[in-house]
Amino acid sequence: MGVVTLEKALFLLAITIATSPALIVCNNLRIKIKDSSVPSSSFPSNFLFGTASSSYQFEGGYVADGKGLSNWDVFTHKPGKIIDGSNGDVAVDHYHRYLEDVDLMESLGVSSYRFSISWARILPKGRFGGVNQAGINFYSNLIDALLRKGIQPLVTLHHYDIPQELQDRYGGWLSPKSQEDFVYYVDICFKSFGDRVKHWVTFNEPNIQAANGYRNGKYPPGRCSGQFGNCTDGDSENEPFIAAHNMILSHAAAVHIYRTKYQKDQGGSIGIVLEIGWFEPVSNSTADKLAAERAQCFFSNWFLDPIIYGKYPTVMQNILGSNLPKFTSNEVERLKKTGLDFIGINHYTAFYVQDCIYSPCEAGYGSSRTEGLYRSSPYKNGVPIGDPTGGYWQHVYPQGMEKAVMYIMERYDNIPMFITENGYCEFNNPNLTTEEFLNDVKRVQFMAVYLDALLRAIRKGADVRGYFVWSLLDNFEWTDGYTARFGLYHVDFSTLKRTLKLSGTWYKQFIAEHKVKALMPKQNGEHLQS
Ligand SMILES: *[C@@H]1O[C@H](CO)[C@@H](O)[C@H](O)[C@H]1NC(C)=O
Ligand SMILES: *[C@@H]1O[C@H](CO)[C@@H](O)[C@H](O)[C@H]1NC(C)=O
Ligand SMILES: *[C@@H]1O[C@H](CO)[C@@H](O)[C@H](O)[C@H]1NC(C)=O
Repeated sequence: MGVVTLEKALFLLAITIATSPALIVCNNLRIKIKDSSVPSSSFPSNFLFGTASSSYQFEGGYVADGKGLSNWDVFTHKPGKIIDGSNGDVAVDHYHRYLEDVDLMESLGVSSYRFSISWARILPKGRFGGVNQAGINFYSNLIDALLRKGIQPLVTLHHYDIPQELQDRYGGWLSPKSQEDFVYYVDICFKSFGDRVKHWVTFNEPNIQAANGYRNGKYPPGRCSGQFGNCTDGDSENEPFIAAHNMILSHAAAVHIYRTKYQKDQGGSIGIVLEIGWFEPVSNSTADKLAAERAQCFFSNWFLDPIIYGKYPTVMQNILGSNLPKFTSNEVERLKKTGLDFIGINHYTAFYVQDCIYSPCEAGYGSSRTEGLYRSSPYKNGVPIGDPTGGYWQHVYPQGMEKAVMYIMERYDNIPMFITENGYCEFNNPNLTTEEFLNDVKRVQFMAVYLDALLRAIRKGADVRGYFVWSLLDNFEWTDGYTARFGLYHVDFSTLKRTLKLSGTWYKQFIAEHKVKALMPKQNGEHLQS
């Protein structure tokens, strides 16, 4: 029955759209680039070369020193959620080994470290309890240790983990109350660390959080309905958009408080990080080209358009209708006024995209109305878009990096960008020896071609200010547990010993060759002396 309903809906939609082609065009906001007249021959001199991490994937210490439980702590302890039955209770124990890890970064010569703050370590019960001073001390000490080595912190306020208290009390991001909690939390972070942190990220990949938490249910809170997954509760047609709406407004509220209370004195910048893939039309037909553009809209412009232009992409409004929440006129004004200072791009892979409006297509990722009526797959006639990696979802397609950066540059008027994540997934094959993992030639090749592609975009005028490798260390890869390795350092998950891989040596040389000089903020010296 569901199939009949869907087909009928598609048919009606096709009729509607056939009569008004403008409805499926996503690029209605595209504007001209201000100035690309000064092409740089290389990375800019103050370009940040860094490594990235996140609290749940790295820290461990999940109940150490007064930390509250997060949604991920609770989720991973439920059977069947994580592929190898593991969790981040210990992860790679960054909470206790951060000084050693800062030394590893210093030896690579990085100019920046991207990490996230565990909300439940600062506020174990959100705003319904006190501040955990031990949590403040941990991040303060980490920041000072970085600055002593000349490494700038780039801090993500929210990277998937929220206090479980907020999930239990009001359903987390499904409730508008989450906005109040987020502002309460970020205010404490700006106040405690903003004298030393000059780059803030409000959210990491809210597009993935909304889809995996509320459409397919693979991430906490594990909600979904119908054919989208196997959940006990949820509404895949509506909840991803409600959660996203609250995250967008939470971002705006956080930026507002930073701009009005802190930015003038602290002199930093604030942005958001989206997962931004590249979508290649599977053919040169107009329908498939529009579908590829539509995929960008439903995937990442979903967040960036409201944050920058105060409205959802028109194509989303037209296809989703009343399933897409609306902003009040006050919210539109707030969104446009606060905006952001930079866009963080997490880029890993590319997909082929086939239109599902004008012709029927197989069910699959993206093909439903709620996902945008495009079918995306890494394969065309059984041939992958690029060399496979250790992740079934990831293929080596460096052109995608250049094209994604150029696309974001054009659509958002060349707002400063950072590549906040890019990295190579290697399957943790238990048959391989440590030595074999250390000789990670494929990761080196991946980084070389992706950095080269990034450089091409920079030469064409893209204002990209940094590149962060995911990741410094092998770590806990969400639902893949410890089965996927991304590190420049190998981690023996039983002893937690870190060992430099070939890719780490290569990155060190790459950074040195590009003579990177971090421009340290002026306040650091003062802070360290006081
Ligand atoms: C859905 O989840 C239930 C409960 O965890 C399980 O028994 C069932 O096999 C799952 N079904 C599918 C199709 O995965
Ligand atoms: C689309 O056209 C371009 C230019 O003619 C060509 O290079 C490309 O291979 C075509 N792509 C497909 C998928 O047919
Ligand atoms: C490891 O080796 C065993 C024995 O040769 C083999 O059966 C198994 O498939 C291998 N595992 C992987 C993940 O390659």
